[in-house]
Amino acid sequence: MKIPHSFIEEVKYRNRIDDVIGSYVNLKRAGSNYQGLCPFHSEKTPSFTVFPNTETFHCFGCGAGGDVISFVMRAENLEYMGAIEFLAKRAGLAMPDTGEHENESDKRTRFYEMNRAAARFFNQMLHTPEAEPARAYLAKRGLTAAAVKRFGLGYAPDRFDALRKHMHSLGYTDEELKTAFLCGKSERTGNYFDYFRGRVMFPIIDNFSNVVAFGGRILGDAKPKYLNSSDTPVFKKSRNLFALNFARKASAESLILCEGYMDVIAVNMAGFPNAVATLGTALTTEQARIMAKYTKKVILAYDSDDAGVNAAKRAIPMLTEVGLEVKMLRLEGAKDPDEFIKKYGATRFKTLLDDSQGKMDYLCEQVLKKYNILLPEEKTKAADELCRVLSEVYSDVEREIYITRMAEKLSVDPKSMKNDVERQMRRNRRDETAEMRRRIVSDTLGYGDRVNRDFVKNAKAARAEEAILGILLLRPELVREIRSGQISLSAEDFLTDFNKKVFCAILDGDDPFDIGTLAETFTLDEISRITKMQVSRASLSKNDASVLSDHIRTLKAEAPREASEDDLADIRSLLDRKKK
Ligand code: GTP
Ligand code: MN
Repeated sequence: MKIPHSFIEEVKYRNRIDDVIGSYVNLKRAGSNYQGLCPFHSEKTPSFTVFPNTETFHCFGCGAGGDVISFVMRAENLEYMGAIEFLAKRAGLAMPDTGEHENESDKRTRFYEMNRAAARFFNQMLHTPEAEPARAYLAKRGLTAAAVKRFGLGYAPDRFDALRKHMHSLGYTDEELKTAFLCGKSERTGNYFDYFRGRVMFPIIDNFSNVVAFGGRILGDAKPKYLNSSDTPVFKKSRNLFALNFARKASAESLILCEGYMDVIAVNMAGFPNAVATLGTALTTEQARIMAKYTKKVILAYDSDDAGVNAAKRAIPMLTEVGLEVKMLRLEGAKDPDEFIKKYGATRFKTLLDDSQGKMDYLCEQVLKKYNILLPEEKTKAADELCRVLSEVYSDVEREIYITRMAEKLSVDPKSMKNDVERQMRRNRRDETAEMRRRIVSDTLGYGDRVNRDFVKNAKAARAEEAILGILLLRPELVREIRSGQISLSAEDFLTDFNKKVFCAILDGDDPFDIGTLAETFTLDEISRITKMQVSRASLSKNDASVLSDHIRTLKAEAPREASEDDLADIRSLLDRKKK
């Protein structure tokens, strides 16, 4: 499937990079560029930069980079064609007819239709005689007809081919059903079978109202309690939230984050449609970021058991890092929101929501609860742990307030507590720096360099190559001079395979070269690396023919060989410079 380059140009022209990225990242002007917090790794100080002049982005922290198309591929988890369609739609452009049928969007549509048909089937099954136990179970759990309707709940019959037969009649193949995790295939016999059997079915619905996956709960106490669809080409658990399709419309004030599907439904039926849950996994950064798109405040309504408390402790920093205010629901007398609402009713649940606790109070309370501070030894441990908690507080004023309060609780001198907190803060900073160094070292040495595997072997040549490619990406007229033979440089001069491949792509590419066209053949990590070459050069003042020929000379003087003492000395001096 080939999209004309003129169309891609049009798509890019109508989707200015700062405009598109600005809808994901809060960008601030920095000279002729923009900066913000990187959406692809978590950071507190902005190292993510958008360059409107070259229509590229680059994160100096994690190295992600590319053009607007590769940004959308990353941010929306799309393939190359999917990203182009996404941007075309955004700009109101119709996709050109490429004459091929099974394009990305057709494949997706078929997948969504298949899942919707399955959801409809499960829902219909819920009203058949064989679903009597399921209906009894739902009634026992207090799930009303209204809840069943709102969430499109269903029942997967306790048979091996109920769904399969139905889906066959609609023209879906076993292979297709298997890719959607609606069917499994026996290793031993090679037979296909329904994946969900004898379970209450919870469809997972994305923001565009597509059914993308399912969760299925067993009726009794058998194991596993829940089965969830695994990731598929169009569904990633880590990027979806249960009931977000409802919650995002009611998220102005806050979102309530629960652990289970049943909790979300109970909270909804109690009159709070702003509840979501992860899909049977721990919270991911991506999910935190998604929530931050819709609201400023998250109320954590995790289970009150140890597992719930631990999950909450891990979720708090992730939510905080994406800028969300975090409040904790103080669930007492029940193990989860569902049970609480059943026991005490919706009104008392509303009171719980209104009285939810700030995350610092919660974290401090968790520490104090753990120790008997009347015993000196335990008191020391509690103080130690509190210092660690308080050292993570970003605002000086807020930290001060909590230090005073906690010092009082422990009856210790606030000054000594303050000293300890500050020592811990220095330690945190040292750890962060050490981690960053470690990353620079491993990046520079090419260890774990999955993009350019020959980097270490030919460090000097590889760096000359990167300089050459960086300059060529910035100066199309120099590419022309290479094509015409005015500048003598050919693919054979390149020593590392990756850089050779990039050179060929530039030489064979459009004039002027467009990084966006790389996304068809290069991976996102490779594009990031190529963008970095360009960005590194752009920060230097001189990128003309004479600089280019200097690097070409360096490259040509290098012959392929094993890593030598020379290279290592080279790398060491490079590292030293980076450390400064
Ligand atoms: P109920 O017992 O029906 O009230 O479940 P719950 O909604 O309260 O869920 P629970 O707190 O037990 O678990 C939270 C979430 O974790 C569930 O909604 C599921 O998504 C997931 N989960 C729970 N048990 C299992 C399991 O056995 N396997 C898998 N894959 N996921 C599970
Ligand atoms: Mn429960």
